[in-house]
Amino acid sequence: MRKLEGRKIVVASHNKGKLAEFADLIAPFGFEAGSAAEYGLPEPEETGTTFEENAYIKAFAAASATGLPALSDDSGLMVDALDGAPGVYTANWAELPDGTRDFAHAMQLTEGKLREKGATGGKERTGRFVSVICLAWPDGEAEYFRGEVDGHLVWPPRGERGFGYDPMFQPDGFDATFGEMSAAEKHGWKPGDATALSHRARAFQKFARSKLGCE
Ligand code: IMP
Repeated sequence: MRKLEGRKIVVASHNKGKLAEFADLIAPFGFEAGSAAEYGLPEPEETGTTFEENAYIKAFAAASATGLPALSDDSGLMVDALDGAPGVYTANWAELPDGTRDFAHAMQLTEGKLREKGATGGKERTGRFVSVICLAWPDGEAEYFRGEVDGHLVWPPRGERGFGYDPMFQPDGFDATFGEMSAAEKHGWKPGDATALSHRARAFQKFARSKLGCE
């Protein structure tokens, strides 16, 4: 398995919520981790139909443009009653006619579709957040790390923290939604911690164990 040499890496995302979470997760490892925007990189079009394909598009674009290894995340919400939708199209459901994104609108759309299916009780509203982290090198080689967290969708949304669909998602075993949790509760993980909660923290934990040699 290829080693991650050097301490410089690009975090291939333009999403402020994801970047903040990656910054927390990567902090203990002493990387110089610049974001795609800091390197002046454009946001590539996500033309894939799987999380892996889209994660690769983002990571490889950043790696080839900078000559550095790049780390991306493609993630989304998969709702059982909606046959896994919005899935890779989770961000698209937030798009307004003027091209901007509004996640209150995205959550309303998701709720409307759940009601069309008659999914009003907790057991009918199950789903999961999925994150696929891709580590790509400038020559095109790549590795993938997948994290998932099961839960159910609440209505109305609760909490002002986090980003995206966080206020609508309550992970199994917790009374709070991701929108009500602190950053540390949602995605806190550091070397030595046995478990992580969020999909992204779980994917990062696998990446760190595999590539950064920590337990
Ligand atoms: P993409 O990975 O850029 O395609 O975007 C994934 C979308 O999924 C984001 O824009 C968010 O709306 C949603 N998403 C992914 N991870 C989270 C999370 O941790 N909390 C809330 N929403 C998320």
